[in-house]
Amino acid sequence: MSETTDRLPVHIGFIMDGNGRWAQKRGLPRKFGHREGASAFRKIARYCKKIGIKYVTFYAFSTENWSRPKDEIDELMKLFGEYIDEVGEYAEENTRLIFLGDKSAFGKEMADKMSELERDSRDFDEMTLMLAMNYGGRDDIVHATRQIAAMVENKEIRHTDVDEALISGLLYTGGIPDADLIIRPSGEKRLSNFLIWQSAYAEFYFTDVLWPDFTPKELDKALEDFASRKRRFGGV
Ligand code: IPE
Ligand code: IPE
Ligand code: MG
Repeated sequence: MSETTDRLPVHIGFIMDGNGRWAQKRGLPRKFGHREGASAFRKIARYCKKIGIKYVTFYAFSTENWSRPKDEIDELMKLFGEYIDEVGEYAEENTRLIFLGDKSAFGKEMADKMSELERDSRDFDEMTLMLAMNYGGRDDIVHATRQIAAMVENKEIRHTDVDEALISGLLYTGGIPDADLIIRPSGEKRLSNFLIWQSAYAEFYFTDVLWPDFTPKELDKALEDFASRKRRFGGV
């Protein structure tokens, strides 16, 4: 795909799946797959920026992933600590950072760092990079609904003021355009609780390539496919 295409998605969501299988195929412990996956994340994030994608969301850890064995969770938390230190580099590159999900699950020190990165990068506008960590689409909606309930309780709004715009604005992605393209490697064809509200009219791209093997070339294929889709949004 050339860098001049006029059919680029505004917001791409990546479900970074297949790390464990990547490692298992090589007879390695799963954690090696997660390390390799983090490296793919880095390359794809930079490539997205290079080709002019405005919003990109990476699904790194779901609300359901806490059910994994403790040693895998520990390994992932270690990696996320490194992620957080590293994504700070993007803040120097005019990239805004937003974390989707309840940060408090990662402990105060890490949650504070995450908030600090969000704060320090909030005026950057070349690209917005979102990391979905401890994220679940249903939790996103519950979190927004609680805020709405409190607003009604405090008589700030009436129940008839609740509309799609209000809900959208209170999601973790408040103010960010809906996803145009959701990409899931690893062969699974499901959302696994990723951006369920925000992907109402997204296009989906599935590939058997495992996330650690997902290269800019694979992304180009997805973008070419996306450019050929006819989006109707319910119209004719
Ligand atoms: C995705 O890779 C990373 C996380 C969910 C944290 P997996 O660990 O799910 O890899 P597979 O699906 O087992 O191959
Ligand atoms: C989805 O992958 C979550 C992330 C990639 C962070 P999973 O591996 O958790 O999804 P399922 O369990 O196969 O649906
Ligand atoms: Mg998986």
